[in-house]
Amino acid sequence: MGDNKTQNAAGEQAKCLPRHIAIILDGNGRWAKKRLMPRNAGHLAGSETFRNIATYCKEIGVEYLTVYAFSTENWKRPEEEVGGIMKLLDKYLHEAIRDMRKKNIRMKVFGDTSRLSPELRKLIAETDEISKTIEGFQANVCINYGGRAEIVRAAQAYARDYAAGKTEGELTEEQFSGYLYSAGIPDPDLLIRPGGEYRISNFLLWQCAYSEFYYTDVLWPDFTPQELDKAIAAYNRRDRRFGGVKG
Ligand code: FPP
Repeated sequence: MGDNKTQNAAGEQAKCLPRHIAIILDGNGRWAKKRLMPRNAGHLAGSETFRNIATYCKEIGVEYLTVYAFSTENWKRPEEEVGGIMKLLDKYLHEAIRDMRKKNIRMKVFGDTSRLSPELRKLIAETDEISKTIEGFQANVCINYGGRAEIVRAAQAYARDYAAGKTEGELTEEQFSGYLYSAGIPDPDLLIRPGGEYRISNFLLWQCAYSEFYYTDVLWPDFTPQELDKAIAAYNRRDRRFGGVKG
């Protein structure tokens, strides 16, 4: 773990801050159902929670936040729901393009964007361009993302480079990481899953090899900075050995 000291929302001194936090956004539908609202109202609330949590992560000094917003399996949902999520992404990307320079926030989309609308793809390309001019906190949003698909895509890209004679020596884990969407980004230290499920759901399968997992029953739209502090406090109580023994 790093030795970043931070002040959390409760004013307590946290010992160590994860450099990279990954979150599976879950529970939007149940949040809406409890309120007799349509599922898309839950996604709207969830997108607001994402903004709040990203802002909080940046404030306390987390360097990377990666969220699972739309999986390769989520296309199976009703057309209206998928359309609603795409609209929210469109809105979020427009806001990001307007604000990221001012807020000093870089943004990257992880996933196969070829199935997204040309409008969304254009917005993503624009956020990529702007991100190149910014240093600092980075939000990664996984859209049409699947961990296995990411690994296969990386293997294919490596095979192409190998066939073209562009690689040298035996493939190492580090080299392979460079073919993933997360190339150049440290692996998540902490993986949070709200919404009461205990699954990884095909999220960051390669990158989470040594991440600390934190599960909570809190539904994503109800997830607050205080909940994030609890997750970071739990992370601080863990003993990360990366397969070694305690010193
Ligand atoms: C999981 O909850 C949530 C999703 C599949 C969609 C998440 C999308 C957003 C929050 C909108 C856009 C995101 C950003 C980052 C701007 P669920 O529907 O599976 O909930 P349930 O398990 O309660 O049904």
